[in-house]
Amino acid sequence: MKKLAIDGPAGAGKSTIAKILSKKMGFMYVDTGAMYRTLGLACLQAGIDLEDEAAVSEVCTKAPIVIKYIDGVQKMYLDGVDVSETIRTEQVSSAASTTSKFQKVRERLVKMQRDLSEEYDVVMDGRDIGTQVLPNADLKIYLTASVQVRAERRYKEYMEKGQECNLEEIMEDIAARDHQDMTREISPLCKAEDAIEVDTSNMDIDEVVETIAGLWK
Ligand code: DC
Repeated sequence: MKKLAIDGPAGAGKSTIAKILSKKMGFMYVDTGAMYRTLGLACLQAGIDLEDEAAVSEVCTKAPIVIKYIDGVQKMYLDGVDVSETIRTEQVSSAASTTSKFQKVRERLVKMQRDLSEEYDVVMDGRDIGTQVLPNADLKIYLTASVQVRAERRYKEYMEKGQECNLEEIMEDIAARDHQDMTREISPLCKAEDAIEVDTSNMDIDEVVETIAGLWK
């Protein structure tokens, strides 16, 4: 099976780019952030302290999560409920960043991710795909952009969805999340040695897609 791994910080454009590329290539798009967000949501719903490793591990190993592909689109279910939209908030994203640092949480999701990659050709995006999940990926991309540009992109996304937001706060959240994701002990966000870095700060979507498609060839 073929594997394209895309890692990078929040808001670098991973999911937008991975979705377009997966369609172009006829591969399955696996959004691993959505999996961590679903477990983050499970912890929020359980009302536990997100820093309590034992409690988070207990909830996350048992949470009835299911991943489905409907018309090629990944949907996340928690306890039978489609939470694919519910997980797209700053609150859930921040919870996921906190709960994803624990071993048990990662073990469960990494297994699901590897299983998918053994069954399908995949474009998989996340934080540790090139370093941990798919160390033998055919191509590894590390997508980055400045904090300012990433915050502006998130701001635009939220505005388009009609969600109230503040650019300064988003910038602070992104910087805090970068720090949390890059400094955690287990599988921190970092560029794999053999990954190719693509800085998208001054590129539009088409340029990024063309660049990566060219590298894939
Ligand atoms: O990509 P995202 O913003 O949906 O990810 C949400 C959080 O999940 C992110 O802050 C860190 C965590 N995550 C992770 O630890 N490993 C991954 N492969 C993907 C996401």
